[in-house]
Parts: sequence; structure tokens; C-alpha cells
Amino acid sequence: MKETIERLRSSGIARIEAASHAADLEEVRVALLGRKGEVTGLLRGLKDLDSAERPAAGAELNRLKLELDAGLTARAAQLADSGPVAGPGWDLTLPGELPAGEGSNHPLITVLEEICDIFYGMGFRRGDGPEVELDYYNFTALNFPDDHPARDIQDTFFIDEKRLLRTQTSPVQVRTMERMEPPLALVVPGRVYRNENADASHSSEFYQIEGLVVDTAISLADLKSTVDTFVRRFFGADEPTRFRPHFFPFTEPSVEVDMQCVACRGKGCGVCGQTGWLEIMGAGMVHPNVFKAAGYPEDAYTGFAFGMGIDRIAMLKYGIGDIRLLYENDLRFLQQFRGVS
Ligand code: PHE
Repeated sequence: MKETIERLRSSGIARIEAASHAADLEEVRVALLGRKGEVTGLLRGLKDLDSAERPAAGAELNRLKLELDAGLTARAAQLADSGPVAGPGWDLTLPGELPAGEGSNHPLITVLEEICDIFYGMGFRRGDGPEVELDYYNFTALNFPDDHPARDIQDTFFIDEKRLLRTQTSPVQVRTMERMEPPLALVVPGRVYRNENADASHSSEFYQIEGLVVDTAISLADLKSTVDTFVRRFFGADEPTRFRPHFFPFTEPSVEVDMQCVACRGKGCGVCGQTGWLEIMGAGMVHPNVFKAAGYPEDAYTGFAFGMGIDRIAMLKYGIGDIRLLYENDLRFLQQFRGVS
């Protein structure tokens, strides 16, 4: 009997130590101390022992029982401390213990939707277009000459001879006009790509929003009042915008649009390079060659288009000094925009 007890002591302790998760340990406890367990069986067998042997064996068995019990408790505490161990004893479909943090929109998406909302209020609808674009829509249909520098691989990510990552949202102009007849008033937000080295104000991917309005008597004055309304509503600017002459192959005349600096309200500061003005978009009247590429009859329509960088608008709105922050997905940055909408 003594030997049996000794063997059970050493094998019992070894089995307890070997249990690697709570479910294993419970099996060991049942096998040793359960109703049909090995120790329990021996205790039950005491009555069949010789009366001379019985008291010593009984005492020894009770000590073993206490020892194993203490061993089981200690091992259970160890397993609980070491945290979850992947294994068959874990039900991975159970809900986690920590509350999952609430997500929120990326600041770029918040700004993009806010911009769209303002244009919806002026009767615009939202359009869409592909990021992997044909050279034709990105350049040719927009009246870019074959040797235009933007077509160089130094500026554009080409996929093959015909396909590229769009460098601007303007290719949606012809894509849309091919499918729809005027009157048109569309905004098309989306991601664009340029082969640029990243720094605080350049990123090889960024967001633009394209605007396109086409009807029979659209003028530059309509463009001006539309962008003035936008900057007043979005930035609460007191001053309207100013237009500077510029050049784009797909608009004539073309302009760059400045608005009053949001940081100094026009006085001149570091944000606006002391000018009091911030450039916010390129724009102009749709070039006749673009209407032609879209298959519209000659001289039937007039229209305006604009293209605005959403990243820059978001940076101005939230005082973000480095565009790369918008693409690194650092939670410490993103969590600052929780609850902002
Ligand atoms: N696509 C031009 C750019 O990326 C902006 C623009 C859009 C200019 C529409 C005029 C009209 O710089």
C-alpha cells in the first residue's frame, strides 16, 4: 500500500505540473480526486485492509489527498497568471474581455464628406471614377499634348503604355460627359497619385475633389459665386476668393483660386507666407476640345471645372503641419479625431 501511495504521489504531482491550461488541470483533478478518482478509490479500499495496516495507510492517504489538492490550487493560480494560452481549451469565439475601442472616421474622410455636403446643398451630385485610369482619359481627352511633361514617368506612375494611376480627378470629366447629357453639376472626390518624393507638403498619394458644371449658359461668374459660397460655408471666411490667371490644358480661361488665410484672416502670417492668401484650387471654363472628346456637339454648351486638394484643406482646417501624418495611420494621431465630424 505504501508503495502504491508513493507512486500515486509522484505521478499525480507530475500530471498537475504538466497541465498547460485550466481544462487539462480539471481533468487531472477528476482523475485523482473525483468520485471515481484514483485517490478516492484507494480511500474506499481502506476498509478491506488489515486492521493493523489501516490507520497508517489512512493517515498517509489523507496527507496525499491534501498535498494533491494544494498542488492543484497552486497550478490553477499559475495558469490564471500566465494569461490565455492558445490551445484546444480556449474557445476563440467567446467575446473578448476588453471593450473594443470605438472607431472613427479618418480626418480626410470627414473633410471629404463635409465638402461634398456643401456642394449637395448647391444642387451638385456625386460622381465616381477609377484610380487605375487610361492615359486617354487622364491626358489625351483633357487636351494634354503628347509631349507634355506631366506624361513623363518622373511625374506619373505608369502601369503599362496605356494605363496609369490617375494623377488628378479630372479624367472623370470626360468619362461622365460620355455617359450623361447636360445640365450637369457633379463633385467627384477620390485618390490620386504622383511620382513625388514625400516631404511635409508632398505625398505620392493624396485626395482631390473635382467639380464639373455644364449647361447652356454657364459663365466664369457662376464659377466665382460657387467657390465663394463654398469657402464661406466651409471655412466661415469673411472675404471671398480671388482668381489669378493660370494655365491648364483642359480649361480656357484657367485660374488658380486663393482664399483669405484662415490663420490670420488676411493679415499675413507664417501659414500664408505673409501674403494673407492661400491657394485652394485650380479651375477654369471647360475647354472646347474637352467637350469634343466627350462627343458633345460643337458650341452647344459651356461649363466650368475645378480641382481642389482635400489634404491641404484638412491640414488647414485642423492645423496639421505634415501631410505624411495623414497616411501613416499612427493611432496616436488618428485618435485625436475621435468624435470630430
Ligand atoms: N486637375 C488639376 C490639377 O490637378 C486641377 C483642375 C481641375 C484645374 C479642374 C482646372 C479644372 O492640378
